[in-house]
Amino acid sequence: MSRRLARPWVRPAPSPPETVPAEAADERGIDMQGPRGQIKVEAEDVQVTFRRRGQEIEAVRDFSLAVREGEFLSIVGPSGCGKSTFLRLVAGLESPTSGQVRCDGKPIRGASADRGMAFQQYALFPWMTLAANVDFGPRMRRLPKAQRRERVERYIRLVGLTGFEDKYPHELSGGMQQRGSLARLFANDPSLLLMDEPLGALDAQTRVLLQEELMRVWEEFGTTVIFITHSIDEAAFLSDRVAVMTRRPGRIKEIIPVDLPRPRTFETRGTETFAKLEFEIGRSVREEVDALS
Ligand SMILES: Nc1ncnc2c1ncn2[C@@H]1O[C@H](COP(=O)(O)OP(=O)(O)OP(=O)(O)O)[C@@H](O)[C@H]1O
Ligand SMILES: [Mg+2]
Repeated sequence: MSRRLARPWVRPAPSPPETVPAEAADERGIDMQGPRGQIKVEAEDVQVTFRRRGQEIEAVRDFSLAVREGEFLSIVGPSGCGKSTFLRLVAGLESPTSGQVRCDGKPIRGASADRGMAFQQYALFPWMTLAANVDFGPRMRRLPKAQRRERVERYIRLVGLTGFEDKYPHELSGGMQQRGSLARLFANDPSLLLMDEPLGALDAQTRVLLQEELMRVWEEFGTTVIFITHSIDEAAFLSDRVAVMTRRPGRIKEIIPVDLPRPRTFETRGTETFAKLEFEIGRSVREEVDALS
């Protein structure tokens, strides 16, 4: 069963000990105001250089960031600035050239089901039914059959796909496939979700609905989420904080706290605070994009 983390709108947040000194955490982008949990992911002075065919590409440099346990943090920045590279480091699919990335205080070595990764495509195995896809993680972890069945049923219901258990991905719409992949991710009970533009391929209406769905599921389970998006309004709507990256070699340029009450609804988008936030994040990204040309 998932841990339920303290959320300010559910019950008062406790103040567990920090894993790094407060001053250091502040420098690495922790907003010291308001409730804060332990640090889940921490990147310290990370640099990644790719070497291909005699060429060197420095993807990220001086990249430092701390992500709190249970928070929803989005990363935005110009195309090619190193967002996916950072996520792949946290997933354990890539190693830093220098610096360190830690999860739960330990350096990350290799992939782990506890750090679930969602990509824009290939979210579901096409040769498996929806139910088999959702059951994939629990089956790999050899959970007892009854527990697996209960999980599959519960997560499919949570994303509104009850009745579609026996369908194959090609029999589902794009939005339904994304819902299915959310169910599959959550069925693994990950303590950290890494999402690389997971809603990028969807039409605008479905995307807004799925943002609300993702919000709802996240509010229920309290998983830490690192979410990459090109959509400024998506970042503002979903996040506790939005980290803006500079152009390549990317580093964190600034962190913008999102002071919108939760639970958030469609109405949230009509507020003045939302519009201001959207403008502030958009302007910060735009400066970087403009500097590229
Ligand atoms: N495996 C690799 N080999 C060589 N270069 C790479 C590799 N992965 C990424 N790069 C380069 O590193 C830089 C950062 O790439 P990355 O995919 O992290 O950017 P991004 O911010 O996710 O961009 P986008 O918003 O377009 O997805 C780019 O210049 C890219 O070409
Ligand atoms: Mg990318």
